[in-house]
Amino acid sequence: MSAPLEIRVPGDKSLSHRALIFAALASGRSRVRDILESADVNSTAGVLRALGVPVPPLGRDISIDGSGARALTAPSIDLDCGNSGTTTRLMAGVAAGCDFRSRFIGDSSLSRRPMKRVARPLAAMGARVELQLGDGLPMVISGGTLKPIAWSSETASAQIKSAILLAGIVGGVDVEVTEPSRSRDHTERMLRALGASVEVDGTRVRVAALRGALSPLDIRVPADPSSAAFLIALAVLATDSPVSVPNVCLNPTRIGFFDMLRTMGGFVRIDAGPDQGGEPTGTIIGSHSELSAITVGEAQVPSMIDELPLLACIASRARGTTEIGGAEELRVKESDRIATVVSNLRAIGASADERPDGLTVEGSQKPLRGRVTTHGDHRIAMAFGILGALPGNEIEIDDPACVAVSYPAFWDDVARAKARR
Ligand code: S3P
Repeated sequence: MSAPLEIRVPGDKSLSHRALIFAALASGRSRVRDILESADVNSTAGVLRALGVPVPPLGRDISIDGSGARALTAPSIDLDCGNSGTTTRLMAGVAAGCDFRSRFIGDSSLSRRPMKRVARPLAAMGARVELQLGDGLPMVISGGTLKPIAWSSETASAQIKSAILLAGIVGGVDVEVTEPSRSRDHTERMLRALGASVEVDGTRVRVAALRGALSPLDIRVPADPSSAAFLIALAVLATDSPVSVPNVCLNPTRIGFFDMLRTMGGFVRIDAGPDQGGEPTGTIIGSHSELSAITVGEAQVPSMIDELPLLACIASRARGTTEIGGAEELRVKESDRIATVVSNLRAIGASADERPDGLTVEGSQKPLRGRVTTHGDHRIAMAFGILGALPGNEIEIDDPACVAVSYPAFWDDVARAKARR
């Protein structure tokens, strides 16, 4: 293997949202380095500013003065969450614990996404939650006095879980959440690091009402495994361009994609590094390899939920037919990612079929050509962008700028990897 090209990808999106929210709820000055500077994280920053938190413009090294979990103030404007489901659902939990009225709005994609999944548990805790269109946004929350809850979630979703945990922290009550399988656990890890009492037992999490204040954070945000996945996929699919991505968050609830790529026959090496901000980190190296089809089932979905569009695109280059099932959650992401991936694979000449809970993709080596309709979905643009970067393929993306949601420098990094060939 020739020396890999090192590409640093931006900070983890899930950790960046949480770093801002916990810095706002802590008492004292927090320091956040290497935060993801993207549209979604800016949405969280904007919502916190509207609630009276002095969040500076995002940058490599920022400080935030938090005044405690009960110090947010009533907003005089709507809370605009842009395209960001994480902003909406996590901040809905925060708003449920605050004794004022908050109105959440977002762009057309976010406005269609289901919010009952957080409205129900927050209402069961005693918040008044009004979904003005039945489900989706606008959502109005009048919070305040909450009661403890033990909630059993139908969906493995870190956003639902985190909304309830945050409502407990801000509302000052004990909360317990049980999920069908384990979703990403960044909220639990961060809460524990800041002094909250967090008990985890399999798929059940309990957080006790805060006794004192949350301590301020000092975090260097590791790189996002969901962003690293695109460059590693490119290294595996392209013929002669090994890539290494350093300092990636290797939280076990996030790295299912890399295991799956290995199962397909991909060369993927992970070199463990130090823990950072309560999360394991390390370097991921990918290199060209022939791939075979695989089957993905429900148990594997949560640890690779955001990477499934990319996996489906990779499957179009693998030997055999890949089946992805147990993934109905894909239908309620930034776009209906089952429909979007299948229609776009077909639009570029690949063979794919929808299933109610997933999709089937037939691999081939024929050149792929055509135009991709992203529906403004950043992960669709990037997944098909990787196919478009392979020699022989000619793929036009209708809205390449939508990558700004999570990975603004994506096209530059892909161009660097291509230039090496
Ligand atoms: C996220 C959780 C996931 C993921 C999203 C980020 C988070 O959503 O798809 O991109 O930061 O909590 P669900 O929790 O709804 O599965």
